[in-house]
Amino acid sequence: MTTVLVLGATSPTAQAFIRLLQTEYPDVNLKLFARNPSRLPEDQREKYSISVGDGDDYDAYVTALDGVDYIYNSIGGVKTGPYTQKLIRAIKDTNTPIKKVVDISAGGIYGEYQSGASLYLSAVRFMYPKYTKNQLSKLDWYRESGLNFTIFRPGLIKDGPETQIITHTPEYRKIDKNEFDINRTTFARAAANAMFNGDYNNQSVSVSNGAPL
Ligand SMILES: NC(=O)c1ccc[n+]([C@@H]2O[C@H](COP(=O)([O-])OP(=O)(O)OC[C@H]3O[C@@H](n4cnc5c(N)ncnc54)[C@H](OP(=O)(O)O)[C@@H]3O)[C@@H](O)[C@H]2O)c1
Repeated sequence: MTTVLVLGATSPTAQAFIRLLQTEYPDVNLKLFARNPSRLPEDQREKYSISVGDGDDYDAYVTALDGVDYIYNSIGGVKTGPYTQKLIRAIKDTNTPIKKVVDISAGGIYGEYQSGASLYLSAVRFMYPKYTKNQLSKLDWYRESGLNFTIFRPGLIKDGPETQIITHTPEYRKIDKNEFDINRTTFARAAANAMFNGDYNNQSVSVSNGAPL
């Protein structure tokens, strides 16, 4: 049975992904990695294997990787760069045959989100320069690892009606303010397609809501 390890499983973004897999990929088994498992919905705690650990905990990754085929990583916060390095090292050290890693990063790190003079979202580069540097370096870390991966750089993930299209670019694009909002389920679907259908393989892609350029 195919098993997906969901890191940052309590996040709203991961929860939408979990719900999508439950309905559209019912044969896929999930393993949920969380530092606060009590924040997981009760039905998920009963149904799935839970790995308790901090994103900084190499040993927790080693334990959690047992029997895992795919990884969805939505751990948040400004320290996710070093966490990602530990995760990649744990995968390599354990020789876990991971088929694909889908990594949720942050929009704005290339200055791609434009909003008048304030450069809304892209201000992340000035507010958190080390975080931004690490997020940019992730692309090299994954490439060097030899793992299959997709890095998503979303704008604002929100509830509401699904959009038909998520636009994406391999590198860099100016994205206007009316394109920032991304439906949570649409984004989850894009992640599932990247995971199982080879979409955006080995790329870091920005994501917008598909409004015309
Ligand atoms: N929401 C958006 O509009 C948006 C836009 C762009 C990118 N993103 C990215 O998408 C990801 C999810 O964001 P979100 O807004 O859905 O949720 P969030 O509230 O940012 O959740 C972050 C997740 O990371 C976990 N986490 C944080 N620090 C951790 C640590 N040291 N060890 C283990 N787990 C840790 C949290 O666990 P706890 O429940 O224990 O706190 C939670 O599950 C983040 O990487 C975020 O940067 C989100």
